[in-house]
Order: sequence, then C-alpha cells, then structure tokens
Amino acid sequence: MHGIMERHVSNPANPLLKRTVVRFIDAAGEDIVFTHGQGCHVFDRKGRRFLDCVLGYGPVVLGHADERFNARIADALGKGIHFPGFADAHDEYVAKLVAVSGLKSPVAPSFMKTSSEANTAAIRIASLVTGRKGVLRCGFTGWHDSQHARSPSWHAPPGHRMPLRNTEGLRGVSGDEEVFNWISLDPEDLGALLDTHGHRIACFILDAFQFAFVERDVILGAIAQCRRHGIMVVLDETKTAGRVSPLGVAGHCEDAWDMLVLGKAIGNGAPISMLLVKEAFRDPALKAQVGGTHSKELLSVHCALATMDRMQEADGHRILGNAGSAMADLFNACVRQLGLSEALAMVPVFGGSLLDIRMRDDLYADPALLRKLQASFLARGVLLLVGHPFFISLAHDGAVDAWRETFLDALGDWWKAVSNDDMAKRSAGPVAIGNSLVAS
Ligand SMILES: Cc1ncc(COP(=O)(O)O)c(C=O)c1O
Repeated sequence: MHGIMERHVSNPANPLLKRTVVRFIDAAGEDIVFTHGQGCHVFDRKGRRFLDCVLGYGPVVLGHADERFNARIADALGKGIHFPGFADAHDEYVAKLVAVSGLKSPVAPSFMKTSSEANTAAIRIASLVTGRKGVLRCGFTGWHDSQHARSPSWHAPPGHRMPLRNTEGLRGVSGDEEVFNWISLDPEDLGALLDTHGHRIACFILDAFQFAFVERDVILGAIAQCRRHGIMVVLDETKTAGRVSPLGVAGHCEDAWDMLVLGKAIGNGAPISMLLVKEAFRDPALKAQVGGTHSKELLSVHCALATMDRMQEADGHRILGNAGSAMADLFNACVRQLGLSEALAMVPVFGGSLLDIRMRDDLYADPALLRKLQASFLARGVLLLVGHPFFISLAHDGAVDAWRETFLDALGDWWKAVSNDDMAKRSAGPVAIGNSLVAS
C-alpha cells in the first residue's frame, strides 16, 4: 500500500524536542500530530477533527487557511520576500497600524519575529537609557533568560501562582542584572520591592493579560510607582494586540508606556512581533542595535497587512468578542446543567476574544485536576487550555453551538474524575473570578 499513512513514521529516529506545553496527547497516550487546519478546526494524522481554541497559542486570529488571506499571501510571494534592506510593505504596515489604532505618539518601530526577541530588545534599550540592568516583571513575557528565570505560573490568579521555577541554566539574571517579580498584584508588595531595589531596575515589563486579574487602576498605579523610581515601562500586548484591539487592552493609554510590544495575532500565525519605542528614545534604540537578518523579512509583514485588512473589513474585534462570549455562555450553561457552578466557570476576558477557565480555590491546589480537564476536552475533540488563557478566531463565529453535547460530556467525564478525588469532598465555595464572583 502506498497511502499517505505509510510515509509517516510513528517512532522517528530523530524525535523533535517538544516542550510539554505544545504536546497534546490522546487517550491512548500518543502524541497528536497535526496535518492541516480549516476555519476553526485542525485535523491530525489519524484523520481526527478538533475544535481549535489554542490557535497556535493565540496567533491564528482569522482562522486556519482563510481564503482571502491566502490569496493575498500568494500574490506577495510572487514579488519576493526578502530584500537587502527594508521595503515598501514595512512602511505601509506601520502607516496602517498608526491609522487603524489611532496611535498619537510618534514612535520608532522595529520589526521582530518573536515577542521574546522584542522584549529582549526593550530590556537592552532600557539599560542603555537608564544605565541600570535589573528587570522587574509581571506576567509571562517570553523564554529568553531574563524573561524566564525564576518565574512563577503567571497565568494563574495571583493567589494560586506556583513557586518560582526555572532556576537552573539561565545567565545574566543575578547580581546587578537581577530579575524581580511582582507576583501578588498588591501595590504594597510592589512599593516594598521598589523601595529596596528600584534604583537597580531599568524596566518594568508587564504582560497586559495581568489586567484580567485586578482593577485597571491597580496596574496603572503600579506603572506610576515604577515611573517615580525612574524605571522605564514596557507594555507587552503580545496576547492582546490585533485581538482585543489593534494595540491590545491598554496600548491606547499612551502615557502608560515607553515601549510597546505587539505580537501573536497581528500576523495570523506568521512569525512577527513589533517593538514600538517612543520617539524620544530613538537614538538609544538605534545604538542598542536590536534586530538581525530576519528583521527585514517580508512574508510575515504581508501576513500582518492582510490580517489587519481582514480584521477591519470584518469588524473583527467585535466579532471575536461576540464569538468568545458565546463560547463562555455555552460552557457556563453546561456547567450549570451539571450542577458544577461552584467548581468552575469560563470567563470571557477583555470582551471575549480571550477565554480563561477559573476554578474553585481548593481545586487550584492540585494542578493534576486542571490537566485532567484539558485532557477530558481533548479526548472529546476540543483543544483548549486550562491554567492558561485560550483563544477565539473569526472562524469560530457561529460555530460554537454545535459543540454543546461535547462540552457536557467532557465536563461530566472530568467531574467524575474530580469526584473520585479527596479534594472534591471538601466543602465547595464560590469561584473567584478576579475581584468578582461568578453567580451560580
Ligand atoms: C505576553 C507575552 N509576551 C511574550 C511572549 C513570548 O512571545 P514569543 O513566543 O513570540 O517569543 C508571550 C508568549 O506567549 C506572551 O504571552
């Protein structure tokens, strides 16, 4: 037989290095290997179809294999994708971003491939400007040493963040290059940290997703505190830019940041991030020599242009919010039907273009239960994340209701597993959702 299946080696000689976050393992204990995507679905080698709410961890904002997007990219391919220097399309993208977002501050923009890279660039620029090398972080901001070293599980609510991880093998994160975390989102903790270490800190890097856990003023107050210590502010809108709005959730608060990072959804899956440095820092940004060979690559820029145009034509930010809210409504209706309202809820974050499952306090104590929920949905053909926000694309609009029975089955399976666990036998309390409580 010479079918497609035959070409796939189930146990290859050189298996890829795969971090657990990007391994999806089926009920038989086998890695799911994806072959293609269409709209809100992805398919695997075994011909299985999944509802995709992971979307590459956020980038695929239009949905997979969007026809009009593909046509634009095919056209761009015919003109070459990498020149000796920058091209028309780079300027066109920046001009459109400014027009569409209403950005008022003049900025020095840089094209990057990843947001880890953009944040590393921002740290170097801040170090040049301030003459300091320490870094203060709040939220996940990438995998480079200064972003990754000694970090907690940032995507859990502050009270449930696991102890510091990633303590070995990372360089440039101690001594005068120390990295600090603001984990609790408590202004008093931040004040104490800044009183002791503020004079050594070059920049405060903030993952805008942290706005999902506290009132906006708490974070804006933290930014003001940092400024009083001469610390530059890097607002990292990687998860939110091009999704919640062109500049994310707080990018339009232009006084709040010195540098703004955009990523993920701006390219609909292509590797592109942007570092926007306020014009006043153009000289140090140039001196910092941030960027490399692929900073001027064009394919991803055409992807970003096509994505922005499609989002504008389709009123995309509103549609994403509606589709995500519909998904949360469906999930929470299933939760109510099963009598689980006191155990968990799906929260539409920033209007619904991001989603987050929040649990009853005691359930957070056992990360295995969170993993089981994710596995239970996966076993029923739904890819979503638990303990990490997950995502909606334009292609999800109107497609969610069909999954009602699946949601009920997946939740039912999970609750059976939880009920067998001592944890669930404790008395139930309400589910904490940021500052509010979900009504059951
Ligand atoms: C807020 C934030 N910043 C930075 C990053 C790192 O981005 P990249 O994976 O493009 O390096 C991520 C990735 O999830 C992120 O969520």
